[in-house]
Amino acid sequence: MAKVIVVYESKYGNTKLVAETIIEGMRKVEGIETVIKELKEVDFNKIANYDAILIGSPNHFGGPTRSPKKFIDKIGKLPLRGKLFAVFDTYIRGDFEKAVKKMEKRINEKAPELKQITSGLSIKVQGMKGPIVEGELPKCKEFGKKIATQLKTSSK
Ligand SMILES: Cc1cc2nc3c(=O)[nH]c(=O)nc-3n(C[C@H](O)[C@H](O)[C@H](O)COP(=O)(O)O)c2cc1C
Repeated sequence: MAKVIVVYESKYGNTKLVAETIIEGMRKVEGIETVIKELKEVDFNKIANYDAILIGSPNHFGGPTRSPKKFIDKIGKLPLRGKLFAVFDTYIRGDFEKAVKKMEKRINEKAPELKQITSGLSIKVQGMKGPIVEGELPKCKEFGKKIATQLKTSSK
């Protein structure tokens, strides 16, 4: 059974809700084991047990926050050959995909063994504290479902 961990940082709860909704989408597909953790709770020693790692961050100052960046740098030291990743962010105004692209670039540089499952998901919030813009949450569910389906196919 494919095992997935979704890790995130969230100051006001919006990125957390995105992470939870991605999980909800993944659970629509049978045969995928999912775990969700806030980055500060992650047991780093267990990361290499997962087949796929999803990393989420709010956009702060045009890029990901510190914990996801540190996490990416740390996992680069683990044996990750054959493992997969995808990223997601939340943003306001015109910063669509900015944090996502920076995380993808950082992973490619620091943890090159990890292969990307699908391009990152960027979710718009209405203001600093949210809420998430209408119509955005269904995208999270779809994203989760798509990833789970892909994992299931590739683990057969
Ligand atoms: C210190 C700070 C800086 C921010 N800078 C940006 C920014 O440069 N671009 C942007 O789109 N959103 C920016 N935001 C808005 C965040 O993206 C928004 O608060 C976040 O998506 C909410 O997610 P959370 O509830 O998970 O914390 C900033 C927010 C904070 C608190």
